[in-house]
Amino acid sequence: MQAFSGAPGRREGPLAEVPPAGLRKIWTWGILIALGGFLFGFDTGVISGALLFIRSDFDLDSFQQGSVVSVLVLGAMVGALTSGRIADRFGRKRALEAEGLVFLVGTVIAVFAPGYGTLLAGRLILGLAVGAASATVPIYLSEIAPKDIRGRLLTLNQLMITVGILVAYLVNLAFSGAGNWRAMIAIGAVPAFVIVVAAVLILPESGTWLLEHGRRRQCRELIASVTGTATADRLIERYERRTREEAERHEPHETGARALAAPRVRPALVVGLALAALQQFAGINTIIYYAPTIIEQTGLTASNAIFYSIAIGVINLLMTIVAIRAIDRAGRRRLMLASLAVMTVTMALLGLSFVADWPSGLSLVFMVLYIAGYAAGLGPVFWTMIGEIFPARAHAAGSGASTAVNWASNFAVSLAFLPIANAIGQGETFWIFGVISLLGLLFVLRYVPETKGREYERIDADLQRRFGRRPPENAAAGG
Ligand code: BGC
Repeated sequence: MQAFSGAPGRREGPLAEVPPAGLRKIWTWGILIALGGFLFGFDTGVISGALLFIRSDFDLDSFQQGSVVSVLVLGAMVGALTSGRIADRFGRKRALEAEGLVFLVGTVIAVFAPGYGTLLAGRLILGLAVGAASATVPIYLSEIAPKDIRGRLLTLNQLMITVGILVAYLVNLAFSGAGNWRAMIAIGAVPAFVIVVAAVLILPESGTWLLEHGRRRQCRELIASVTGTATADRLIERYERRTREEAERHEPHETGARALAAPRVRPALVVGLALAALQQFAGINTIIYYAPTIIEQTGLTASNAIFYSIAIGVINLLMTIVAIRAIDRAGRRRLMLASLAVMTVTMALLGLSFVADWPSGLSLVFMVLYIAGYAAGLGPVFWTMIGEIFPARAHAAGSGASTAVNWASNFAVSLAFLPIANAIGQGETFWIFGVISLLGLLFVLRYVPETKGREYERIDADLQRRFGRRPPENAAAGG
């Protein structure tokens, strides 16, 4: 991210320095990188439809069905944790390329699986790829982004997740007549193939990674292809000056997990992990995964459950577009606070509508408003911020750890939701999510810094202040 940013404190932003042709290039790269998010969303969405047919084909009991779904999430946790090392060692571009290839392998195994065991293996491999990609995409995007459009560029990740979910629902609809679950899963090979080809032929390595690995000449060529050589030299010199200043301040030079453990990085780690858990424990996937089941219980005819899923998928996507438009103007904090406020209120009302037996149409309205609130804030902003709050050396490790916690929380909530709802009641369970959203709101208010248009130094200074530490001397003046 630093590599393209303008000088701190100057009025005109770095967009003034990146010519329109350069911006088009950056957006093209961004969209291709964000296809990693598409894989994530697609796999989340496709299995709900495919499972209906896998179940009868392979004669699966309910434990086996659950395992086909959750083994992917387990694989994703492992993938997210290991991806940081790969992305640091071999670069962001190579990491994404490998993730696309692994995804293709997993898809082939799952599509041609003769039975339950092989299918499970295929899903595990898909999980490794999806988890690793979900950690690589935010850092890769943030490292090619000019700071004034960084929010929008990073939000592409969540946009692609929601597009993936929606496309999966449509694919389910298209193949459900024939009951062809193998075709449903096979479609995922198309974006994975595009990612591999793009990584080999089109995508550049991240400028930050190149400089951190002493490949100055390559980095200069890359930046010059976007901004022209004069600006490229200036930006690189500025980056190197900052690295020297850091060294003079005796800041730790470790990379990866060790850099993440440095006391100075702890506030960022707390924020990254807390937002990761909050995003899942506020209940989003109980609605995304179980919407048809919940809708059935509101008494509406759920004969066309897929139709309702598609409606929810469309709102999820549309409101993410709203977030993309707003994130660099309103800022991350405002979006997230508004989002959590809406989620708190709608969960309270959704719970009440179940407990007090209100007309079922109302429950549906509250669910839709909850999704809209999530998609316009907490959904995209989490993925944006984990690309912004960590220093370059802990970037991949920090994003990986946050992503792994996100997957682990996802796993815990989706496993526990139905049993808890059966034990204490569905309405009461939604109240728990409401309380978590409210606690999340208070956490954001107190601890989460604004990152809009700020360079890393200022984000860091804000974080240190919020956690009661003394900000580094030269950080407060930046733009
Ligand atoms: C979350 C996913 C969720 C999706 C819904 C993502 O940000 O990480 O778990 O299914 O949003 O749009």
